[in-house]
Amino acid sequence: MYNEIDFDKIDINSEPPAEEPARQYYFMAKCRMWAEDFKQRKGRTPSACVFNMGCQMNARDSEKLTGILEQIGYRMQDSEEADFVIYNTCTVRENANNKVYGRLGYLHGLQKKNPDMLIGLCGCMMQENTVVEKIKRSYSFVNLIFGTHNIFKFAELLFTVLENRSADREEKKKNSMVIDIWESTDMIVEDLPVERKYFFKSGINIMFGCNNFCSYCIVPYVRGRERSRKPEEIIREIQDLVADGVIEVMLLGQNVNSYGKNLKQPISFAELLKEVEKIKGLERIRFMTSHPKDLSDDLIDVMKHSKKICRHLHLPLQSGSSEILKKMNRRYTKEQYLELVNKLRSAMPDLAITTDIIVGFPGETEEDFAETMDVVQRAEYDSAFTFIYSKRTGTPAASMDDQVPEETVKRRFDCLLKEVQEIAAKKAEKSAGTIQKVLIEHMNEQDDSLVTGRMSNNSVVHLPGTSDMIGKIIDVKLTECKGFYYLGEVVTIQPSAL
Ligand code: 5AD
Ligand code: SF4
Repeated sequence: MYNEIDFDKIDINSEPPAEEPARQYYFMAKCRMWAEDFKQRKGRTPSACVFNMGCQMNARDSEKLTGILEQIGYRMQDSEEADFVIYNTCTVRENANNKVYGRLGYLHGLQKKNPDMLIGLCGCMMQENTVVEKIKRSYSFVNLIFGTHNIFKFAELLFTVLENRSADREEKKKNSMVIDIWESTDMIVEDLPVERKYFFKSGINIMFGCNNFCSYCIVPYVRGRERSRKPEEIIREIQDLVADGVIEVMLLGQNVNSYGKNLKQPISFAELLKEVEKIKGLERIRFMTSHPKDLSDDLIDVMKHSKKICRHLHLPLQSGSSEILKKMNRRYTKEQYLELVNKLRSAMPDLAITTDIIVGFPGETEEDFAETMDVVQRAEYDSAFTFIYSKRTGTPAASMDDQVPEETVKRRFDCLLKEVQEIAAKKAEKSAGTIQKVLIEHMNEQDDSLVTGRMSNNSVVHLPGTSDMIGKIIDVKLTECKGFYYLGEVVTIQPSAL
């Protein structure tokens, strides 16, 4: 686990150490000198903004970048009018890429107003060669590009950028862009600083990468092969977080159900959860994402008997048609998926199940789509993320025949969305009037007399309250169901222990 770095003990005039994380501490110390100098020159602290565009894994990576920036001496802010702006990008769907190109023009305008401004791009989109080539060609004002495998090297890369910039200025040269993309790595660097967005909850990477190669998905190409962290490192990190006030953790991985398989001493995800459950002071455990093909009976059993694992499972369906599932390389059938849902529901009747569904995968017929609608009706999802299939160059699906016409996809998408929303609203209605434990997360964004929190099943509740309730688990009566969320009122404030 990361302990406070003693910067006074680091000799920045010596050669950088070869081993990690000492090497990064050294470059953080070097960047700190630069930040001090900036302060002297400008009479203010340098500011930075990390803009997250992706999934929970990206969000966690952004917290790591923020942790390092804060150690260096940057003041973090949400606005992009900063001295250093980093976009942590996503590339799962094509429109995510287009959004980044669109925003870069805006950033360039800001950089013209503040010539000291640095622009950095990282995340999944940067792992694609064509993207980096395009940025080199058309967005030469970008200062730094790095990928998903070398986030830990961020301080070193930033130091290179700062050095290059002063050399460029001296020699009156154009911006030298620093680009460092790794194809992959088996290396997992522990003990780097990380800044949490919330003091009471945190995401924790338990594994990186994915080995599944679903035929539509670019993730295995940009996040690399599956690597699990050692259970003792995970437990140590959670214990330290709990000692620091965290009561809820979200264990993160592209497919948590295959956690531990590639470790020297293999351990299952269910076994890891049992260990996490034992941590005193930890009150809630969440995890995502679960691939249906790997969800074991042991896991269902551990969830069922756990007092801490939340009653929520994200179980991506992708398609309800066994034919399409085969083409997607998902390795389960419609029947197997529904059987799993039944098993889960009979073990835990109060479990919320959510899902991801793709519409318009190549070759999807009306019959295939009807199968998806059938599963949606039978599984009664508590909520579902619905996506229009997006062709990702380099994936097997991109070269499949029978791409579905746009208007057909749009019609199916609207029909699916309507169904999903109606079912979710009907299900949510059933909990109205009940008392639920709610972890209060923040003040309500629209009305500052309200606070907002989440139930164990991940549903959102707004209720009258004050900022001192944030980070506490409170008994709340759900007074009204508003479809996607509830209104509630406090019953009693619980002591923070279970
Ligand atoms: N097109 C549309 N949706 C996709 N997803 C992944 N790849 C694609 C794609 N090419 C969706 C899947 C996944 C979620 C994170 O994004 O449903 O579960
Ligand atoms: Fe992509 Fe499939 Fe891996 Fe999920 S399990 S990240 S959809 S390849």
